[in-house]
Amino acid sequence: MTNRSLAKAPADTTILVTGGAGFIGSHTVVELLDAGYRVIVLDDLSNSCEESLDRVRQICELPAEDQPGGDRLQFVHASLFDADVLEELFSAQDVDAIIHFAGFKAVGESVAKPLEYYWNNIAGTLELVRVAREHDVKNLVFSSSATVYGDPDEVPITELAPKRPATNPYGQTKSMLEQILSDLYAGDPEWNIVLLRYFNPIGAHESGLIGEDPRGIPNNLVPYVAKVAVGKLPELNVFGDDYPTSDGTGVRDYIHVVDLARGHVAALDWMAGRVGAPSSEEPAQDPYSINGEQTADGCRRGVGVFNLGTGTGSSVLDVVRAFERACGHGIPYAIQPRRAGDIAECYAACDKAREQLGWQAEYDLDRMCQDSWRWQSMNPDGYRA
Ligand code: UFG
Repeated sequence: MTNRSLAKAPADTTILVTGGAGFIGSHTVVELLDAGYRVIVLDDLSNSCEESLDRVRQICELPAEDQPGGDRLQFVHASLFDADVLEELFSAQDVDAIIHFAGFKAVGESVAKPLEYYWNNIAGTLELVRVAREHDVKNLVFSSSATVYGDPDEVPITELAPKRPATNPYGQTKSMLEQILSDLYAGDPEWNIVLLRYFNPIGAHESGLIGEDPRGIPNNLVPYVAKVAVGKLPELNVFGDDYPTSDGTGVRDYIHVVDLARGHVAALDWMAGRVGAPSSEEPAQDPYSINGEQTADGCRRGVGVFNLGTGTGSSVLDVVRAFERACGHGIPYAIQPRRAGDIAECYAACDKAREQLGWQAEYDLDRMCQDSWRWQSMNPDGYRA
């Protein structure tokens, strides 16, 4: 039993990014390449386009894959269920760590298609870690979600808050996968796992070249507002104005996707022992983190749990106003009844990530909306134009 060491220069470290062509994935690939890592993206393109990776090459000024130096970013078009492809990938490449984004993520759809969500998200992850384990790759960063807190007793939400049952299968898969990955460590203390609980990622790369590209009518607030702003949808439906919040609309912790992406680079530094207090001096601060033995070369073992948010709550109407400032015109909206499963208020305490990962969000809501607007106006039809 062994695990690959992360105690080496990023230039000598290869990160497998599942779902790397998607919204958060593509922005994370940019930050990984900027930090000097080698990256292999595995994506089945079921909810993303390869074009996003061409744009990533442009942003990072990387030559094509077959040109000298271009192989710092490689793309494998496959699903987590293509066992032969996974096997071949891990045999042929020295993967050091995995950042696992691949999964279905539409809350409403998950209620209608629970089987598809449980199968894809859970069985897909099991396949990934099964093959990774065979190749002694036991460093993993997992995309979790603030949804695991359910309706919290208090805000800001710290990592100490109890997990609560999610109101939909999508949220359940995140919660269950946190448990599964923690059990994986319990059974084999070589694993080095970080669970990142994202709040509400929005915004886009400042270049306007990559951004969120939902298929069909968007489910989430900011992509919807952006479509209204660009004239593709007539008006925004505001789901509820009778919540116990400042203006009655729902409050969330919106985080710039570039800040979020940088949180993943910080997580790798933490796993390698380059940031944060030594495990032995840092008692597990919350019920879901486990500190294992650090290796001789400083790499961590265990399960680290971190919120990635800004610590600031914004209402739906705050977002509308900020987007209006960004695009320079009004956003029509209509108040509708509450949406099933929504909570009043959700925002993060970010102390743990700041202290341990040395990471904090930099960009405010205005900047998030400016970057979303730049992406939306430069790409009114997303990557398909
Ligand atoms: N909202 C509207 N109109 C819309 C869409 C959303 O008023 O058309 C409101 C919602 O009611 C909520 C807020 O905007 O108050 C944010 O809604 P989103 O759908 O953008 O985001 P959620 O907070 O519901 O969910 C997001 C992710 C989930 C994740 C969760 C974690 O979509 O994947 O955050 O807290 F689980």
